[in-house]
Amino acid sequence: MVTLGEGTSAGSVISGKYPADRFLMALLRACSDAVLIGAGTLRATPGHLWTPAHVFPRHAEGFAGLRRSLGRSPEPRLVVITARGAIDSSHVAIQHGALILTTRRGADACRHLVPDSCEVVVIGDGEEVDLAAAIHELRNRNLGVLLTEGGPHLVGELIDRGLLDEAFLTVSPVVAGRAEERRLGMVEGVELLPKRGVWSRLLSARRHGDYLFLRYGLRA
Ligand SMILES: NC(=O)c1ccc[n+]([C@@H]2O[C@H](COP(=O)([O-])OP(=O)(O)OC[C@H]3O[C@@H](n4cnc5c(N)ncnc54)[C@H](OP(=O)(O)O)[C@@H]3O)[C@@H](O)[C@H]2O)c1
Repeated sequence: MVTLGEGTSAGSVISGKYPADRFLMALLRACSDAVLIGAGTLRATPGHLWTPAHVFPRHAEGFAGLRRSLGRSPEPRLVVITARGAIDSSHVAIQHGALILTTRRGADACRHLVPDSCEVVVIGDGEEVDLAAAIHELRNRNLGVLLTEGGPHLVGELIDRGLLDEAFLTVSPVVAGRAEERRLGMVEGVELLPKRGVWSRLLSARRHGDYLFLRYGLRA
């Protein structure tokens, strides 16, 4: 389970803002050319910036130095995927600047609302964004190392289409429960088992305190 129902930004609640988890998130961002999220995650996380410094400010300079040594731009580009273009232009991350990959309908809905710091790009002519074409567009912009932070529907589609290479999974030692609210799992919108489970390889397992940090390879 990775969400806590409507209106609650789940990640930091589930992890208890555990510093090692936040450090890992910042490190992954620091190594990436772009951070890719679905619009649902943007909507659920007001006030968030998808940068290393935002999630681990104490080591902001160290992460900036790491990016320089890797030849990366000062910050990873935020990439938002949306079909409807339902983007809150006052969101701090949108004000900060983002690349919005969307449909024609989505572009019509948001192009005139978002600030100049954003670029809106139509991918294909379907009702949804073809994620393979979106990744192709990013590669053409020299955004080669892509980190996705979900959410569950975007991750589900990436796995379904065989577009996710690796998954970094933090197991938090908290029992969250489920009753009335719809609480989403890591992968939503696609049924894989029993017909075609996506089997993965455990590439590394680390423990810090009561938390587990697992890295899986998803492609053969
Ligand atoms: N625990 C964690 O680590 C973690 C991480 C991330 C998110 N979350 C949680 O996940 C929840 C949100 O879940 P979610 O599944 O709705 O998030 P999501 O996958 O980020 O967002 C789904 C939305 O993304 C857009 N989208 C996804 N695939 C698309 C495609 N192929 N083409 C066009 N648009 C596409 C659509 O936006 P439009 O509706 O605008 O068309 C869709 O409604 C929140 O509660 C958030 O806090 C948890």
